[in-house]
Amino acid sequence: MSFPHALRSAKTQSFHGTARIPGDKSMSHRALILGLLTREETMISGLLEGEDVLNTAQAVRQLGGRVNRGHDGLWRVFGTGLGNLHEPDSVLDMGNSGTSTRLLMGLIAGHPVTATLTGDSSLVKRPMGRVIDPLQDMGAQCLGRENNRLPLTIKGSGHLRAIDYEMPVASAQVKSAILLAGLNIEGVTTVIEKIPTRDHTENMLRHFGIEIDTEILKNGGHAIRLKGRQRLHGCAIDIPGDPSSASFPVVAALLIDGAEIRLSHICINERRTGLFQTLIEMGADITFKNRHSEAGEQVADILVKGGNRLAGIRVPPERVASMIDEFPVLAVAASCAKGITTMTGLSELRVKESDRLARMAQGLLACGVRLEEGEESLIIHGTGKPPRGGVMIDTMLDHRIAMSFLVLGCVTDDPVEIDDARPIHTSFPDFIKIMNNLGAHMTDIDKKEEKVA
Ligand code: S3P
Repeated sequence: MSFPHALRSAKTQSFHGTARIPGDKSMSHRALILGLLTREETMISGLLEGEDVLNTAQAVRQLGGRVNRGHDGLWRVFGTGLGNLHEPDSVLDMGNSGTSTRLLMGLIAGHPVTATLTGDSSLVKRPMGRVIDPLQDMGAQCLGRENNRLPLTIKGSGHLRAIDYEMPVASAQVKSAILLAGLNIEGVTTVIEKIPTRDHTENMLRHFGIEIDTEILKNGGHAIRLKGRQRLHGCAIDIPGDPSSASFPVVAALLIDGAEIRLSHICINERRTGLFQTLIEMGADITFKNRHSEAGEQVADILVKGGNRLAGIRVPPERVASMIDEFPVLAVAASCAKGITTMTGLSELRVKESDRLARMAQGLLACGVRLEEGEESLIIHGTGKPPRGGVMIDTMLDHRIAMSFLVLGCVTDDPVEIDDARPIHTSFPDFIKIMNNLGAHMTDIDKKEEKVA
């Protein structure tokens, strides 16, 4: 079999320098969507220009917004205003992006328009019932394929019911979909989350002038209350670097002797930094400088020094939501650490862009790592040395699987290869350039390969 988009990552001797990581993906989607809901101009600097966000931008245009990128890299959105979406005259193609899909489902549900959404072969397998259920409770009509899969059609309404909804899964996407639907409702919509999830929607709504209340409950959960029909105001937003993207060079640096890198201007919202906290507890040398806040979000430069031997750890399950996208790269770090790393409460990893639990377990086993994969858990027995590598990984349209194994290849004796690097463009288009500028050896290959893990 030939793999025209295959990449090889070979051992890295030195890893040094400063890098600017592209804008946060979660914030980028939200900035475009909220920009659609005001008639005033919204100016966005630092927007992530990855495929997922470009798909959101395209959908915002199809829903009536004007979205332009200036030569200076500044994005401008001229919206239609809340309650005024245009009905799209063709299907909204969300590509690989679950976040675009679920957030836009909420937005459409609260408007008197009908729209059909679809996606690529990964996205059409992902569960949408978690969003459809509350939106139907509110009065929207949704019709998907078997098991609520895409393509699906939503017939929204300008007269939805406000609901009180306790989320059965810890999902910021579900929370955000309900809040976006609640924006155009007379009355107060309440979302209760037992485990706090990322709060960029709440923070950005405040930045657009909306009053939204977050009550901390006795059990540690949150009740988020939003009174509908408030007016959003256009604003300027500077989007900091994505901590999930930063996690790849951070882990690479930690595993390479003598490495020293600085990643400037990264979002360090505490609901996103579970990985950094975990790595520090494993013995990593990570420090935060120039802390400040921007558009309601904490931002800092991250300094990482490599060479400290990492120790295995038990990751507290209540921390999972704050590092939900970082388990693949944590599994790479754990494979090189000394001792056992136990990760539990991982059921959500099975319904991401791929089944990430299975993908990581299979790929790491093929690289020579000792591990146990459970229904919702992964236990990795690290030896204190990198595994041997020497495999090609089937990335299954999953950007984070692709990048995690390329990071592993930076430290294995035998190179690690991935069959398809294209998914990386969804979230981190400059990944290869940034990693190679810091000292990695990631190169194109095009050859016959038999051993695909
Ligand atoms: C996201 C929330 C998370 C995360 C995804 C982005 C968001 O998903 O995995 O990459 O921007 O709201 P869930 O909220 O479904 O866990």
